[in-house]
Amino acid sequence: PRTTVGIIGAGPAGLLLSHLLHRQGIDNVVLELRDRTYVERRQRAGILEQDTVDVLRLSGAGARMDRQGLEHHGIELRFDRRSHRIDFPSLTGGRSVMVYAQTEVVKDLIALREEADGTILFEAEALSVDGIETDRPAVRYRHDGAEHTLDCDFVVACDGFHGIGRRSLPEDVLTVTERTYPFSWLGILADVAPSCDELIYAHHERGFALHSMRSPEVSRLYLQVDPDDSTDNWPDERIWDELEARFAVDGDWELKRGPITEKSITPMRSFVAEPLRHGRLFLAGDAAHIVPPTGAKGLNLAVADVTLLAQALTRHHTRGDESLLDAYSETALRRVWRAEHFSYTMTTLLHSSPDDNDFDRALRLSHLRYLANSAAASASLAENYVGFSDN
Ligand code: FAD
Ligand code: DHB
Repeated sequence: PRTTVGIIGAGPAGLLLSHLLHRQGIDNVVLELRDRTYVERRQRAGILEQDTVDVLRLSGAGARMDRQGLEHHGIELRFDRRSHRIDFPSLTGGRSVMVYAQTEVVKDLIALREEADGTILFEAEALSVDGIETDRPAVRYRHDGAEHTLDCDFVVACDGFHGIGRRSLPEDVLTVTERTYPFSWLGILADVAPSCDELIYAHHERGFALHSMRSPEVSRLYLQVDPDDSTDNWPDERIWDELEARFAVDGDWELKRGPITEKSITPMRSFVAEPLRHGRLFLAGDAAHIVPPTGAKGLNLAVADVTLLAQALTRHHTRGDESLLDAYSETALRRVWRAEHFSYTMTTLLHSSPDDNDFDRALRLSHLRYLANSAAASASLAENYVGFSDN
């Protein structure tokens, strides 16, 4: 088969790019390794920045988000048994975020592509990208037990951290910058009303905890655990006891417990591959960069990348002008590095590391108190959380 833009991966990046290109009349095909149900159920992000919400709305993909998403105007920081609220609108000129799960964004985008007769090939594994230095790149893939070739004008790798896209760039072109962390997150979904109206980011000497939500009936919570820990070590009672200990405050707040319906452990890393383009192959989303989840930036970066790419490919398609394609890598990386710094800062601020000494612990507490008590420090956190880019 042949198409204008070959897209590898049907995560949020690949699906949104496909949708945005289709709206500009640009033909595209999405190849996805997994089946549709798997892609629609994979539990991940939950927070959409204002810019992400705007892109979904303006492209006609925001109807259900506007009905079911929960607009949040702040977060709570908890440490030393006390709560401190950070108010977004007053600190950011009226901006806020939306709680709307990645699973729902993905379902909405797949439904829209389906209605428009778009092509998403599920259970199609991309094997290699060839000819990226020519103007006829191609993706070799396996589908229904046979190998095929998708001939394209451009290929965009939206195939996540473990995909093949990034590895298709010549080794001497690609630079990788990376950091790992000595902890992971145990995440749960529970059928219980959230015990809070806004997200709680808690620092405790036992470790970090996060109270998030999916709806007025479903809570999403995370606990810092050891990197080599297993969910087998975490029966439901132990999870609730540990969450309760880390969220404890003076006063009459209570953590509501309920049946846990999902449990998984995610490692944490910071990772940036540069550049995001070589010849006619582009990288977007987790294929190019990873942030630790504290700060909720990953999905939002994926959306920002493909929004730029859709504009750049449209400009090329309608006017034969390549300037935005040429600028893509540099433009996208400015936002990526801002998010890398913010996510790293939030992660080191809120987690307890086994390597910490007394000096590290004292600095962390001082930083937390500064964020809680200084309008300037809170404004900086708020500005980054709702989404900041100096492009
Ligand atoms: P992915 O969603 O990883 O999609 C890549 C797709 O490519 C997958 O469907 C995969 O199956 C497919 N693929 C891989 N290899 C191939 C191949 N060879 N051929 C064909 N297809 C292939 N981000 C936020 O913004 N806010 C949050 O609150 C947040 N919380 C998170 C919590 C957790 C526990 C985790 C794990 C992540 C969180 N993130 C968050 C990060 C966010 O989920 C990711 O950044 C986001 O999924 C990136 O989207 P993507 O489309 O780039 O990649
Ligand atoms: C969620 C995940 C995050 O990483 C975060 O910072 C906030 C919320 C979530 O899954 O709801």
